[in-house]
Amino acid sequence: MSQLFAKKPLKLLLEEMQSENRLRRVLGPVQLTALGVGAIIGAGIFVVTGVAAHDVAGPALMLSYCVAGVACIFAALCYAEFASMVPVAGSAYTYAYATLGELFAWIIGWDLVLEYAVGSATVANGWSSYFQEVLAKFNLHFPASLAGPPIGFDATGHVISTGALINLPAVLIVCLVTAVLVKGIQESAGFNSAMVALKVGVVLFVIIAGAFYVNPDNWKPFAPYGMSGLTILGHSIGGQVGANGQPVGMLAGAGIIFFAYIGFDSVSTHAEEAKRPNRDVPIAIVASLLLCTVLYIAVVAVLTGMVPYNQIDVGAPVSAAFKAVGMHNAEFLIAAAGVAGITSVLLVMMLSGPRVFLAMARDGLVPQSFFGAVHPRFRTPWKTTILIGVFVAAMAGFLPINILSNLCNIGTLLAFVIVCAAVLIMRRTNPDAERPFRCPLVPLFPILGILSCLLLMFSLPHENWWRLGAWLGLGLLIYFAYGWRHSRLANKGGSGG
Ligand code: ALA
Repeated sequence: MSQLFAKKPLKLLLEEMQSENRLRRVLGPVQLTALGVGAIIGAGIFVVTGVAAHDVAGPALMLSYCVAGVACIFAALCYAEFASMVPVAGSAYTYAYATLGELFAWIIGWDLVLEYAVGSATVANGWSSYFQEVLAKFNLHFPASLAGPPIGFDATGHVISTGALINLPAVLIVCLVTAVLVKGIQESAGFNSAMVALKVGVVLFVIIAGAFYVNPDNWKPFAPYGMSGLTILGHSIGGQVGANGQPVGMLAGAGIIFFAYIGFDSVSTHAEEAKRPNRDVPIAIVASLLLCTVLYIAVVAVLTGMVPYNQIDVGAPVSAAFKAVGMHNAEFLIAAAGVAGITSVLLVMMLSGPRVFLAMARDGLVPQSFFGAVHPRFRTPWKTTILIGVFVAAMAGFLPINILSNLCNIGTLLAFVIVCAAVLIMRRTNPDAERPFRCPLVPLFPILGILSCLLLMFSLPHENWWRLGAWLGLGLLIYFAYGWRHSRLANKGGSGG
């Protein structure tokens, strides 16, 4: 029993950081912030916003973005405190090991792998739609059988066959990104910075050019689906329910577009590659999140002001809004930048998963020879990068985007809840540890972080709870079959809790 709650001492974590076989420290604050923005602005704002505005929240989606942004800011401050204390790869997994013990660390590590892998598959799916839209401008088309996943959902939420065989563009982009990542972080970060500059430029263009076409009448009614949208395991708590039986309203919108914010946490998984992690990682986490929050709210205000909410396009909402007001060149520019922007999200998300496995392998919880292998020349965790690449390509090729994005949301929200709780615990158990960055107003902010993330979890369609439970159940089986026996800490004897 005591092994389940054995904690990895902070001193040991810091000692391990000095050891051999570490990743190269090459990233400065601007590159780290770019990695954050690169991971954040993508399929969420460019794709998911459409359906959320059209079917779930209406113009009140502006408020949904505020609610989700505030929940993320509490979590970001907690992440930043930990990242400055323990700047090693592994992020929330490592923090949980130091505070809540081995079992929670395993749960969160396994959950983060879900977040990054399913998130990557979601993003690859969104990339495929935008890419095909750009190709269509040149009259090029993939055959229908290779253009989308074989399964989908009808309006009542039932699984249907789409007639397609595989989403080939999604599979191809995953293979390409995997190859870039095996080659190395420095090349990847440079490529990412160029993509980020392009997509932030286009987002600013959308806000400034779109502002001239805003008609304030389109913001009325502001909340056509109401302000709530909360369910507890499938039971709606007040508010309206949509045609497929799922909650609608401002809060339900926040649960869905939470996907647009995912990614700032991945900055903390690069702490080991940061030149000055204690200072730069907290700065990058908070800066990238704040920047994206402001941009998102402005984009949604403009979008819902340009087009009545019930005419917003659900496939490519942002570029279609410019088409609707007659700016056809702008439509093409935005679609092309959408492809670039979504590529950089995929890059950062697929960079993060292998680093969580790397941290777990170093602790003996998954086999070191495979998951802990760092390439002798490229210094990248190449074996897991390829393994995750294969897994992501399979999901992106065969599953529809809505299943993937909601599953990614609930997994990420759970990780945020655990990180906020871990900050509270660490302040009690290690009050004197050096904290180059301190989350303000503890315990209030971490508690608000926990409550707001739980609120968003309950605003998601309930089947996501069962899917999350199934994933965690599988993880526990693996833990008791392997990690429990091979844990380094157990063999060394950790501080039982
Ligand atoms: N936040 C990322 C996106 O919107 C995952 O694509």
